[in-house]
Amino acid sequence: MRKPFIGGNWKMNTDSKAAVQLAKDVAQKCAGLLDKVDVSVCPPFVYLASVKNAIGSAKLGLGAQNVYFEAKGAFTGEISCSMLKDLGCKDVIIGHSERRHVIGESNELINKKLIAAIDAGLLPIFCVGELIEERKAGKTDSVVKEQIQKGLAGITVEKAKAITIAYEPVWAIGTGLTATPQQAQDVHLMIRQLIADMYNKEFAAQIRIQYGGSANAGNAAVLMSQPDVDGLLVGGASLKADDFAAMIKAAAEAKK
Ligand code: PGA
Repeated sequence: MRKPFIGGNWKMNTDSKAAVQLAKDVAQKCAGLLDKVDVSVCPPFVYLASVKNAIGSAKLGLGAQNVYFEAKGAFTGEISCSMLKDLGCKDVIIGHSERRHVIGESNELINKKLIAAIDAGLLPIFCVGELIEERKAGKTDSVVKEQIQKGLAGITVEKAKAITIAYEPVWAIGTGLTATPQQAQDVHLMIRQLIADMYNKEFAAQIRIQYGGSANAGNAAVLMSQPDVDGLLVGGASLKADDFAAMIKAAAEAKK
C-alpha cells in the first residue's frame, strides 16, 4: 500500500508573517492525519528557515520549490542541495511546469537536478505534464514519456526510490480546469507501466504518483479515489489552511 503524499506548493506567494502563520495553521489542522498521509509544505526559499521553525516538532515535511545541481561556487542567484539540507528540507520540487515553460528548463537540466538532489539525500518531487496543444494533438503520452525517460536518464532503481512523480497537466495548473479523475488515472497508469518497463514491476508498484492542477477541497476525494493517484501537488488551495487540511483528510479517507 502506498502512503498518500500531499504537497503544498506555495509558489511565489506569502510574506514572512503569512508564511509562518500558514505553516502553523497547517501543522495544527492536520496533526492527527500525519500518520496516515505524508504532507510537505514548499514555501519560497527565503521563508524556508522561518517555516521550519514554525513547524517545530510537528511531523510536517519541508520542501523547496527548486534547486541548482552544482555543489557550490559562482552561480549567482542559485541555491544548492546542501543549503536546502542545511535548512532542514526533506523534499524538493524539480521540473515544475512553471520552471519548464516560464523559466525555460530543459529535460537535461532537470535530470542533472534530480541526480544532485538524490545524491544529497533530498527527496525530489519530479513534475511532468503536457501542454493543452499537446493533449489536443493526442501527444500526452509521448510528451510525458519523454519527460520521464530524459529526466530519469542514468538514475538507478535504488536512487529512483527517492522520487515521487507529480503528473501536472499544464492546462490544469492555476486555471480552475482540473483533469477529470479518469484523465488523471489514465496518465498515472501509463506512467506506472513506463516505470515498470524502465525499471521493474515491483518498483513501479511502490513509486508514488501525485496529481497536480487545480486540485482543491471539492475534488480531492474523487481524484484520490483513483487507484493510481497516490497524492496531490497543490498550488492555490495549499495557501488556505482549511482547504489544504480538508484535502489531506480526503486523501486519508480515500486510501484507508
Ligand atoms: P494549482 O497548482 O493547484 O494552483 O493548479 C498546482 C501546481 O502547480 O503544483
